[in-house]
Amino acid sequence: METTGRQIYMDHSATTPVDPRVVDAMSLYWSEVFGNSESAHSFGQEAANALEQARQTVADLLGCRPSEVVFTGSGTEADNLALRGTAWAARQSGSGNHIVTTPIEHPAVGNTVDQLRDLFGFEVTRVPVDGTGLLDPDDVAAAIRPDTILASVVFANNEIGTVQRMVKIGQVCRERGVLFHADAVQAAGRLPLELDDLGVDLLALSAHKFYGPKGVGLLYVRRGTVLVPAITGGGHERGRRPGTVNVAGAVGLAAALRLAEEERVAEAARLRRLRDRLIEGVLASVPDSCLTGDPKLRLPHHASFAFRGVEGQAVVLDLDLEGIAASSGAACAEGEPEPSFVLEAMGLPPDWSIGSLRLTLGRSNDEADVERVLEVLPGIVQRLRACG
Ligand SMILES: Cc1ncc(COP(=O)(O)O)c(C=O)c1O
Repeated sequence: METTGRQIYMDHSATTPVDPRVVDAMSLYWSEVFGNSESAHSFGQEAANALEQARQTVADLLGCRPSEVVFTGSGTEADNLALRGTAWAARQSGSGNHIVTTPIEHPAVGNTVDQLRDLFGFEVTRVPVDGTGLLDPDDVAAAIRPDTILASVVFANNEIGTVQRMVKIGQVCRERGVLFHADAVQAAGRLPLELDDLGVDLLALSAHKFYGPKGVGLLYVRRGTVLVPAITGGGHERGRRPGTVNVAGAVGLAAALRLAEEERVAEAARLRRLRDRLIEGVLASVPDSCLTGDPKLRLPHHASFAFRGVEGQAVVLDLDLEGIAASSGAACAEGEPEPSFVLEAMGLPPDWSIGSLRLTLGRSNDEADVERVLEVLPGIVQRLRACG
């Protein structure tokens, strides 16, 4: 196999490198300003000031109050806090027992909802999606019952890039008096996040998806939303997320979100052009291939495909041999390829849904990277099909 020697990273929905400007912004908060932000002395107060500055920056960017911003240890933890926190609060007040969600959530939501059902007795309705992964807001309305407490919807799906009609879904939730949680982990830095327009009560982000550090996330909690903390401990983050706060991480998240927002419109336009060339090139050069997800309502950097009769994981490994990092939604259980549950929920037959490939572009990618993928991918799929 011919290799160019150059590594191409096209897995920006899995994670992104930390922007050097973010590393700079964080550098003071490891060994110099290291105090515990809860401590009364000046070391602690210096850390607390940095933390509150980061909270203010995020609040300004999202259009909310600083008191509505809760720093967490990941996007997963933010989703857990949103779901467990509101479900347990509803249990305490007796206000309801039913949660509405979708079959295409990230496991951070999907598995949490299942646990609330299986261990805590909540009832769950998963509103079906169409063949492009889109939810019909009318179906969400129909799923809401008098005892529904919360609707949780992934703003932009990680596997197929489909962007939901959140404003309409938010309106439905508001009209019915149901809390609305958005998992915006993939959307942040890529789509506008005006909280009032979206009509959300809770919204989860994760810094490592927008060139910030790993291990720090955020939950927006609309004022007045009652949450029982998902983990127990001290009174940090106004009692909503106990545990000594990762000040460097919060500073990094705020710096990364600010940069991503400043550059978002221009970068999204650039990536959209690259993405469209990639989609058009793959569909034209790989027989029995299809785009997965919505062709229009999709993340600007996100291209995802299904190839009939090929294991997506095998394509990923062969691309890696060519120096190209991609991913597949299909997982392998005991050596057997498992169809992607997202593609199954969209109605793709198993011989297609095992063959999913996700190529997600980012700041490091250019036209040459796209052309290199188009040069090697058709041959890889053809060889794997021939090996059968
Ligand atoms: C849609 C979505 N939600 C939640 C998460 C979890 O975020 P984290 O990696 O910060 O735990 C991810 C990560 O891939 C994601 O794509």
